[in-house]
Amino acid sequence: MLWSVLFYLMGSLKALTILQLIMREDNGLTGFFFSVDDFEYLLAFGLPEIIRRKKETHQNKIDVLDVGCSTGEATYSLTTVILEALHLLGESEKKWEVDVLGIDKDSIRTSDSFRGYYKRSPRIGALLEGPLSKIRVEDYFEERYDHWAEFKMGPACIVKQSLIERTHFRCEDIEVYTPDRDFDIIRCMAVLRYCNNPSKVLEKLYGNLNDGGLLIESDFSNLITERYKPVYRYVYKKL
Ligand SMILES: C[S@@+](CC[C@H](N)C(=O)[O-])C[C@H]1O[C@@H](n2cnc3c(N)ncnc32)[C@H](O)[C@@H]1O
Repeated sequence: MLWSVLFYLMGSLKALTILQLIMREDNGLTGFFFSVDDFEYLLAFGLPEIIRRKKETHQNKIDVLDVGCSTGEATYSLTTVILEALHLLGESEKKWEVDVLGIDKDSIRTSDSFRGYYKRSPRIGALLEGPLSKIRVEDYFEERYDHWAEFKMGPACIVKQSLIERTHFRCEDIEVYTPDRDFDIIRCMAVLRYCNNPSKVLEKLYGNLNDGGLLIESDFSNLITERYKPVYRYVYKKL
């Protein structure tokens, strides 16, 4: 009897895990530092190279595009790693212009991102938690009471001004949107699968990526041709 109850429970848990994975795939959620390895690559290698190149050409500006940003956690994480990379290289963030643009075709998602409020759970994170270290939480979040946030999601934290002022969101469909500038990094994770014409979107992103810029893409790496060099997991460098 006891064994059959245990087997039943284990079976239910497994079904629950599978269900959660399916939901994560389909409900368009993201998370802080999602996927973490690619962010660590940016911090250790990708950004130092971009920053060095920019310094050589006296362009103290870093432009980043996050396509399909959903609720914005990964977009804020991009801004976080840029500021961290500048600090690690001894650069003053005041001397650098950092502009991270998140776009999503779903306006409800981008409106949430704009406010920078995230549910405060055991660790800070939105509906999906990300691997936020204690130091990152202290550096980039503050607790703040806000009636709207409390009503909507319970205890909440807001990302600090240093991130908010460098991170912008727009409601745009990448299949029709024409960016008005080029980018040093374009992140397009788990988005092309929803596009009618992924190769056309990839073509557009290629056109809007600076030479030597990085594309972070997870769905259609087979469409990423000899114009990129794979450098790490989902990261490709424009040749
Ligand atoms: C699975 S989520 C990926 C979230 C995020 N990119 C990540 O991986 O951390 C897909 C997101 O892409 C958005 N999306 C789908 N098609 C899009 C399009 N054509 N233009 C802009 N966003 C799109 C959806 O609204 C959704 O928020």
